[in-house]
Amino acid sequence: MSNCSPCSITRIEYDGGRHPILLDDLRNARRGKGWTQKALADRSGVSEQAIYRLERGIGSVATLNAAMTALEFRLTGIGPGKTLAEQLRARRLKRGIALDALAVRTGLTRKTISNIERGGGSIASLMRLMEALAPKAKRRAPERAYWGQGDKEDRDSRFTPPEFMNNIYAAFGTVDIDPCAHRLSPVVAKRRILLDEGGDGLIDDWSGRLAFVNPPFSAQLKWLQRAHEQWRVGNVEAVVCLVPARTDSVWFHDTLTADADICLLQGRVRFLDTKGGSQPTPFSLMLVALGTTAQQKAAWNGLVDGLWLARR
Ligand SMILES: C[S@@+](CC[C@H](N)C(=O)[O-])C[C@H]1O[C@@H](n2cnc3c(N)ncnc32)[C@H](O)[C@@H]1O
Repeated sequence: MSNCSPCSITRIEYDGGRHPILLDDLRNARRGKGWTQKALADRSGVSEQAIYRLERGIGSVATLNAAMTALEFRLTGIGPGKTLAEQLRARRLKRGIALDALAVRTGLTRKTISNIERGGGSIASLMRLMEALAPKAKRRAPERAYWGQGDKEDRDSRFTPPEFMNNIYAAFGTVDIDPCAHRLSPVVAKRRILLDEGGDGLIDDWSGRLAFVNPPFSAQLKWLQRAHEQWRVGNVEAVVCLVPARTDSVWFHDTLTADADICLLQGRVRFLDTKGGSQPTPFSLMLVALGTTAQQKAAWNGLVDGLWLARR
């Protein structure tokens, strides 16, 4: 590194080679899917040679974009945008860095930077921008439908952390029933239906004012249907369910969205496991609320980042 006083912007010396994080992660993403370079090339609409070169940091930003799209490979820690180029431009603007200043800092010309921001240019130049603007950018955890590790029992026994529950209690009040409870779970409820005590939340009647439901995710739809039915027949006044944001079933669209308030949660929740560890979900989450009031929803908004969908 050399200091380019008097403008006091640090100039980054970059060898034009590979960006260690981005390109290694990109290759790992390809291998993780079990794809050869040829398979990625076919899915990206570029030549096998282009993928070979890409993984060595050589080639065009257009090739990089095509491969990232095919791999569903996204980076966080930069800024908003559909492509890496858009993200970098958003980052530069947010930090108030002029093109000229960035040119000094990276050793690239103003024209090259503009070209990259429009999706053109070379990978080597784009890597220089990454180093200067977003050195901490990293791969966004891939979205999966289910927990990846452990057996089914382990994957289904993930407990809502106390800090999340504190927001539930604060916004919606005390919980009367946890119909799919676990004795190791920190959820505080007046009544808990426990499988190992012979209870069954899919059969036993629910009761009380508020039910909190964090169901086994492998049977999410069944539990949402059960929650809806128990609320509809009046066994509970209100239900709040914390579930993966899976919205593809006909029942979700035809029935649930007519009766439920749904809050798409920003970020992911670190659930606790049976061994005392914790992991964030590899998928997005939503809160499904039945019978809750506008005041309760407003209180939730003041505590947790998310978006309530309009009721159908
Ligand atoms: C994801 S965990 C949630 C535990 C707790 N409600 C919480 O939020 O921390 C779901 C639990 O439901 C339990 N479960 C599965 N099927 C059930 C059933 N039919 N009746 C009651 N509990 C059940 C499992 O033992 C599992 O521990």
